Amino acid sequence: MNTYRIASIPGDGIGVDVTAEARKVLDQAASRFGFGLEWTEFDWSCERYSKTGTMMPEDGIERLAPFDAVLLGAVGFPGVPDHVSLWGLLIPIRRAFSQYVNLRPVRLLPGTSSVLAGRGAEELEMVIVRENSEGEYSTLGGRHNAGQPGEFALQESVFTRVGVERIIRYAFELARARTGRVTSATKSNGIIHTMPFWDEVFAAVAAEYPDVSSDQCHIDALAARVVQQPDRIDVVVASNLFGDILSDLAAAVTGGLGMAPSGNINPPGEHPSMFEAVHGSAPDIAGQGIANPVAQVLASAMLLEHLGEKAAAQAVNTAVETVLAEGGTLTPDLGGRSTTEELGSAIAAAL
Ligand code: NAI
Ligand code: MG
Repeated sequence: MNTYRIASIPGDGIGVDVTAEARKVLDQAASRFGFGLEWTEFDWSCERYSKTGTMMPEDGIERLAPFDAVLLGAVGFPGVPDHVSLWGLLIPIRRAFSQYVNLRPVRLLPGTSSVLAGRGAEELEMVIVRENSEGEYSTLGGRHNAGQPGEFALQESVFTRVGVERIIRYAFELARARTGRVTSATKSNGIIHTMPFWDEVFAAVAAEYPDVSSDQCHIDALAARVVQQPDRIDVVVASNLFGDILSDLAAAVTGGLGMAPSGNINPPGEHPSMFEAVHGSAPDIAGQGIANPVAQVLASAMLLEHLGEKAAAQAVNTAVETVLAEGGTLTPDLGGRSTTEELGSAIAAAL
């Protein structure tokens, strides 16, 4: 029997609730499909930061390195600045493990009401390939003349040829496997150094994939296209910031943040990959037991797929669809009255 070692970092707020349900579903999948999951839970979070001054221990990365995969809830809580929680845990893990692809599939699930009601599931099915290791999220820059009238802040972006080329190539490989098309999110009309460079690399890689159709679209127009013509979109490749914004938007048109999973992938498999919902710790509903666990459960299906347990991954996706289509066990964001725990258990039972 294959046994996989999984690190779980529930984090803060609803991250804790939805991760508990995802773990329940994963354990059920393991027993049904005959593989083992050996869990190790880490309490790395804003709560830990409040007590010790760090989000994770100094050797956190070394501790995670031996695992087959990481399941992350969400980090962030009022009282701890968001740049501390992000740069103290999430971003160091993504970068140390070279998880340079942030894969964010978006689809309309049964039983959910989209703002695009009337569209079929096949019209609302796309995947956002977000660059996850450089771009706009950089430490370069600084604050100057603090408190003075001439105070200013500078923030530099980093776009390397290696970084841009590998993410675009990943998108083309994915589109080829889906027999789909690639759309590049750009803004080379306004951002005059990095985005023309991005466009050039995109054109060069596209030329190597004559069998895959592609186009490019400015991020503002692309945002409108996600809402008005989602059927024209298949695989989107985007920089770190553009991909982040676009995936929340795409999640919103398919029924909300509670439904959108995400994988931080190290394609060569040299380091563990990490799976999480797109959403954050949602302090506004934390502690109420009403967070929708579907996003985290779907992220767990991505984790299983990544481990090579494809049948189990498919079964988890089907269990989610079954429970949503029945419609009797839905959390308030989906118009129901059920709790996180009830929806998680219903999915595990359907499995
Ligand atoms: P958020 O995603 O936590 O919440 C946005 C809105 O969506 C809230 O109204 C929330 O109630 C709702 N929502 C999100 N997930 C839901 C779910 N599963 N079920 C039902 N409703 C759900 O984003 P926000 O409010 O901008 O950030 C809150 C905290 O989370 C911040 O500290 C932020 O830095 C952090 N964050 C962490 C992320 C991570 O760890 N990967 C990602 C995004 C935000
Ligand atoms: Mg985001």
